[in-house]
Formats: sequence, C-alpha cells, structure tokens
Amino acid sequence: MKDKKKELEELRREVLACRKCELYKTRNNIVFGEGDENAELMFVGEAPGKQEDLQGRPFVGAAGKFLTQLIEEVLGLKREQVYIANVLKCRPPGNRDPKEKEIEACKPYLERQIEIINPRVICALGRFAANFLAEKYGLSFTSMMKDHGKIFSAEGGKKVVFTFHPATALYKPYMKGLIEEDFEKIKGIVSQKGKRKNTTLLDF
Ligand code: URA
Ligand code: SF4
Repeated sequence: MKDKKKELEELRREVLACRKCELYKTRNNIVFGEGDENAELMFVGEAPGKQEDLQGRPFVGAAGKFLTQLIEEVLGLKREQVYIANVLKCRPPGNRDPKEKEIEACKPYLERQIEIINPRVICALGRFAANFLAEKYGLSFTSMMKDHGKIFSAEGGKKVVFTFHPATALYKPYMKGLIEEDFEKIKGIVSQKGKRKNTTLLDF
C-alpha cells in the first residue's frame, strides 16, 4: 500500500509550484489542507481567507474558530482527527468568490486529496464545496436552505453532508443553530474515534 503521508506531501509540493490560475500571483502561501490522513471525516471549505493565506493553514481565522468549536464541542473530536481542505488552495483577493475557471484549474488537487485520504464522510462547508461534491458524486443538491443537513450516499460507501459555511454564522447569528443541528447529524454518522481502522470501512 502506498504511504498516504508521502502521497499527500508529493501533492503538496505540486500545489506549491502551481501557477494554473492567476491566484498564484497574489497569494502569500498556499493552503493545502491539514489533518489526519486516515481521517474518517473530511471537511471541504471554499478558499483561504486572509489569516489562512498568511499562515498557510485552513480555517484559522474567525470562521475557523467556529469550525474548530463545532468539531470539538458537537462532534467530540479533536481538529487533528479530521482532515480539512478547501476547493481553492490560494486566496482570492479581498475574499471575493472563486471564479469558475479557478475552480476548474484547482479541481485535480482536491480530487486527489479525497482519493488519497478516502474519507467515509465528507462535509461540504458552503455552496462552492457543495457544488463541487454534488458534481463529483452526481448528487441532487439544489440549494443549501433545502438540502443542508441531509445525508447523501455516494459511490464507494461514502456519505456526503452539506452545511452552511461557518462564516455565515458570524454575520447571521441565527445560522449558528442551523449549523450546529447539521453537525449533530454528522455526529450520528461518524465513529467516536473519528479514524478508520485501516481499510475496513464501518458499515451501516
Ligand atoms: N473559509 C474557507 O472556506 N476556508 C478557509 O480555509 C478559511 C475560511
Ligand atoms: Fe494553482 Fe489552485 Fe492556486 Fe490556482 S488556486 S494557482 S489552480 S493551487
């Protein structure tokens, strides 16, 4: 079996040298993603923000603080036990929305991260991640309001869950409760240890 850590490191080096879209010009750091390469649960966000671009780590700003709290307090896991990545690996200037051509250019990196980590549960944070995963797995995602918190079955025994981007709770406090409810549903489908036993997938 190939070494997952090694494969991720090779991929990270590729991203480090990437100039496939214009975002390489304005980035301070790539934000590859981080966490347990054997994680059962993987989160996919949108793109690095200011803090993430400065530190080279995903979800370390205000939205990240909320995400970390959800992982620890609702799921009862440590941040290090899950894997966290984004659709884009470089920050869009001023945190503007990702452009279609940027998403297309960056797509193979997230695809390969998912392939290597092979999580059993993937949670999309926000509509860009939701659209990415819905397209990848052929899921009928219509809108976040309608489909958040639903558990979709995808190929390879995977489960995909959509929820709002944690940043939305920062400017719309009522969203906090909705996101927390979705995390309760995620809690119901992840094992307490948050880590897969080698290649044996838990089945339910
Ligand atoms: N928002 C995201 O979508 N990703 C991050 O890494 C940080 C904020
Ligand atoms: Fe490459 Fe993705 Fe960064 Fe664009 S956002 S330069 S495709 S790594």
